[in-house]
Amino acid sequence: VSRSPDDLVIAIDGPSGSGKSTVARRAAEALGLRYLDTGAMYRALTWLALDQAVEITDADALARLAREADLEVTTAPAQPGVRVDGRDVTTAIRDEAVTSAVSAVSAVPGVRQAMVARQRLLVGVGGIVVEGRDIGTTVLPDAPVKIFLTAAEGARARRRGEEIAGGRADAAVVDATAAAIRRRDAADSGRAASPLMQAPDAEVIDSTDLTVDEVVARVVDLARARP
Ligand code: DC
Repeated sequence: VSRSPDDLVIAIDGPSGSGKSTVARRAAEALGLRYLDTGAMYRALTWLALDQAVEITDADALARLAREADLEVTTAPAQPGVRVDGRDVTTAIRDEAVTSAVSAVSAVPGVRQAMVARQRLLVGVGGIVVEGRDIGTTVLPDAPVKIFLTAAEGARARRRGEEIAGGRADAAVVDATAAAIRRRDAADSGRAASPLMQAPDAEVIDSTDLTVDEVVARVVDLARARP
């Protein structure tokens, strides 16, 4: 007996550049579910910390900001958006300054506690695809479908490089991106508070040699085949 997909929760975790955001959004659209990008929430908080000149090393101030910030995240897959204090920061949170500081901010335990609580509220009831680093392990350990999306480092660096360079990335851009991704992955995997981790019951998809369409189809198949 297959239930309606309306209440289906899909957790997608994985390292930077594995294609999580694109795949999660497209799978949500294909399945008629909402979509939550938790990385965008950590990025929005980091943007606010930089904007308010809060020291990135001040754990207490960052945790307070995480609890008190006016953070709005949309869950419509067709139109992902983030607002902080009413300001639309959807584009600004992808800036280099935010990208280099976000791992440090998201490693603060008090920040994670506040953000996980916000994420569970946003998930609420009803179907949703949630992507991040700790969704299947910490935020939604009971999610019926868990996916760990990964790809070889070279492929991830090329994709991020192309994103940054707007289509064509030369060798220097790819090299610089590879180094930045290695740093961020090491920080995200090595931190004490809910690091990037594969849930034991997650289905692993390696997207190195797959197209986006192929990965989305795989996620949709897993969702439809769930017990
Ligand atoms: O997915 P992303 O690259 O936009 O995420 C930005 C940063 O946020 C990433 O370096 C790790 C952190 N993050 C996290 O710690 N936990 C999550 N659930 C999502 C993102």
